Amino acid sequence: MGHKLPALNSQQRRGERGVGLLHTNRQISLCRDYVLENNTVFYFYFLSFLTTTEFIFSSSVSQKYPPVKFLSEKDRKRILITGGAGFVGSHLTDKLMMDGHEVTVVDNFFTGRKRNVEHWIGHENFELINHDVVEPLYIEVDQIYHLASPASPPNYMYNPIKTLKTNTIGTLNMLGLAKRVGARLLLASTSEIYGDPEVHPQSEDYWGHVNPIGPRACYDEGKRVAETMCYAYMKQEGVEVRVARIFNTFGSRMHMNDGRVVSNFILQALQGEPLTVYGTGSQTRAFQYVSDLVNGLVLLMNSNISSPVNLGNPEEHTILEFARLIKSLVVSHSQIQFLAEAQDDPQRRRPDIRKAKMLLGWEPVVPLEEGLNKTIQYFSRELEHQANNQYIPKPKAARMKKGRPRHN
Ligand SMILES: NC(=O)c1ccc[n+]([C@@H]2O[C@H](COP(=O)([O-])OP(=O)(O)OC[C@H]3O[C@@H](n4cnc5c(N)ncnc54)[C@H](O)[C@@H]3O)[C@@H](O)[C@H]2O)c1
Repeated sequence: MGHKLPALNSQQRRGERGVGLLHTNRQISLCRDYVLENNTVFYFYFLSFLTTTEFIFSSSVSQKYPPVKFLSEKDRKRILITGGAGFVGSHLTDKLMMDGHEVTVVDNFFTGRKRNVEHWIGHENFELINHDVVEPLYIEVDQIYHLASPASPPNYMYNPIKTLKTNTIGTLNMLGLAKRVGARLLLASTSEIYGDPEVHPQSEDYWGHVNPIGPRACYDEGKRVAETMCYAYMKQEGVEVRVARIFNTFGSRMHMNDGRVVSNFILQALQGEPLTVYGTGSQTRAFQYVSDLVNGLVLLMNSNISSPVNLGNPEEHTILEFARLIKSLVVSHSQIQFLAEAQDDPQRRRPDIRKAKMLLGWEPVVPLEEGLNKTIQYFSRELEHQANNQYIPKPKAARMKKGRPRHN
């Protein structure tokens, strides 16, 4: 009769220091018992090999990942993040992983990158699935953060039909999944649903001013109907929904060429190129740092507020002020260049966050300059990384072997 190797307990599975050693010793002694009973040398070597490799793997596991909290079975949630390899999604992944939850990221890598979540790959609480939300998905989860959608104008205008499909069919699929497994769904909606607003600042009860056939409509209307779908599923099927209306956000892992104001200005300033301002630069925006947004999303998901909530930083600046501030933080000699106004570009944008403050106790805490400095550091590292990884074919002469000169 052979022994079954013991299953690891949850603490051991969590990859704590020394677990590899404990586990290996126990397994090796069991292998020895097995050999004594069966006198089968082959099994001994085979199992020793397995346990040794596992030991090496487990020891490296304990050092490889950022530290994660231990949560009891009762408190640990299985969480799906669609679009989790993107800018916001990857920061949300970090928070939920470090809080001790099991996180599944689903992404089709349209604008997201594996690199954004690579530090979790192989962790037992983490799963990465290459999947398009326009196709149905069948998994077991307790909460769904539905972020999958291109978010910057050049990206969502690149393929407007796909943007519409992602926000409509993709959202229906995720609501269908939420209904089937009894999960709560949080939709990453946007301030764009207010369009070019006629009221200022924008509060959640403002219905918006959107051009339904303009170039941004695929995104604005896509998100508006996604919200409608959430409330239809809530009323008709009893699905628990949360809707976050996210205002402009910035931080590390923004895509290098996604064409958003902050990333554009920082990259232009770092490379000594002119900072391009569309129109006069008098249009306003309010930017929040990504860690503030992530905290707001988690608070909202775990609250009992099912109506939409604005998440943004109410500190409003003109685009021109942003350009000047970034130029001075980078210490750049770039010029500011004025280009023709973009169509349907909202003139003023500033969230009214009284609801989030009152009901979630949330408000942004990261000062603008601090967030910008962190983002500038990130983009300089990215530029360096790009420069170091460019493929430059070696000239023929460099490939010649030493001591064997060629005569041409
Ligand atoms: N960043 C902001 O300022 C901001 C503002 C308002 C709303 N939002 C919303 O937050 C969410 C995340 O935005 P972000 O800034 O991280 O953008 P992002 O482009 O970095 O991330 C979006 C992610 O969704 C993925 N994706 C797109 N289509 C998909 C599909 N069909 N199936 C699976 N994955 C798909 C992309 O590959 C990417 O990883 C979006 O829903 C966006 O609308 C962001």
